[in-house]
Amino acid sequence: MTNESQISDVHARRVWDSRGRPTVEAEVSLRSGALGRAIVPAGASKGRREALELRDGGERHGGLDVGRAVANVNGEIRRAVLGMAADDQEELDEHLIALDGSPNRDRLGANALLAVSMAAAHAAASIHGVPLYQYLGGVGATLLPMPQIQIFGGGAHAGRRVDIQDFMVVCPGAASFAQALEWTAEVYRHAGRLMADRGSQFGVADEGGWWPAFDTNEDALAALVAAIERAGLVPGEQVAIALDIAASEFGRNGRYTLGLEQRQFDSDGLIELLLRWCDKFPIVSIEDPLAEDDGEGFARFTAAIGDRVQVVGDDFLVSSAALVRESAVAGAANTVLLKPNQRGTLTETLRCWEAARELGFGGIVSARSGESEDTTIVHLAIGWQVGQLKVGAFARGERMAKWNEALRIEERLGARARFAGAGVFGRNIA
Ligand code: PGA
Ligand code: ZN
Repeated sequence: MTNESQISDVHARRVWDSRGRPTVEAEVSLRSGALGRAIVPAGASKGRREALELRDGGERHGGLDVGRAVANVNGEIRRAVLGMAADDQEELDEHLIALDGSPNRDRLGANALLAVSMAAAHAAASIHGVPLYQYLGGVGATLLPMPQIQIFGGGAHAGRRVDIQDFMVVCPGAASFAQALEWTAEVYRHAGRLMADRGSQFGVADEGGWWPAFDTNEDALAALVAAIERAGLVPGEQVAIALDIAASEFGRNGRYTLGLEQRQFDSDGLIELLLRWCDKFPIVSIEDPLAEDDGEGFARFTAAIGDRVQVVGDDFLVSSAALVRESAVAGAANTVLLKPNQRGTLTETLRCWEAARELGFGGIVSARSGESEDTTIVHLAIGWQVGQLKVGAFARGERMAKWNEALRIEERLGARARFAGAGVFGRNIA
């Protein structure tokens, strides 16, 4: 351990996220004088098995204040990590996990732990004199992620105006990350104009996608294809559709209700509907097609379509290496969404990705619906060579901060930058 990388101070404060809610920011200072800073995000459609985000409860800020999490960082966590090496992430994170001592991080809070875990990584990168992605992945970290970008919001992020949560595009035909952003910008702009033409442009949802003023969920899919075409791009070839059904939000115990259409389904009924959509629309990725308690439905859906469509587990897998291993055995899902705050430390999130990669799963690093200017996840996606990144729409500062950071990295990598196209999507291995 170089003395220079020893943690000399840790400080947390309450800052505010993109929904105007309190969240935790931490700063980790090193003996060298280096400083790392990170802000944790927050979800709205959370999985039941996620690590716990500690909130104060009570009346203040709707019970969402983070005074306890901030105090935990400034007290117990600070005392425990002072003098530790910021550039031994695994040891630091193991120490944080042991200090918390709960299976679910509900004593100190995943928000408190993750803020310190991420801030330490930034401090360590800074002392090594390299950007975070390079500190994490070395000089071989040159794969830019396929962006999954929301065009229409929905579900819990749009007052349940439609049931499906994310109507997104990916650009399998793009030659670079920058080109994927250019194409998406056009699709987003034309989608806005299309909504304006219909007299239904009412602003944006939580992650910046257009407000989903549609009569049916399928209408949104048709509008998405129309927007791709209006942008002068070829649906399915250049630009394809990715969905986050977030089915845990409208189903449990094998019963699903699409409120917008007043239709009820069992698992097989919902699977049939989604398979029909996959036939009718150029869909290449579906996240949480079934609820988190419906592993059997997940397995049936993956068996039916997992060789051509990426089946992503978010609420279903909650960035857990153990759940990824279980679902690989069951043949449920072929790709994992990676959200560090579902676990509470970078090391546990990385372990999930390592388990997934070993099992032939794809991966997508993902933001939360409540975000900030923090761009750590962009560096994780590139440093860990995950291949895909989901951040919300092509609007709002907290989203654009991430897209723009990835653009900077692509430019910095120059000729060494790689963009894998459709090859990064998770598929069942035969
Ligand atoms: P959340 O939504 O951050 O509200 O959980 C994002 C997602 O479901 O992917
Ligand atoms: Zn999701």
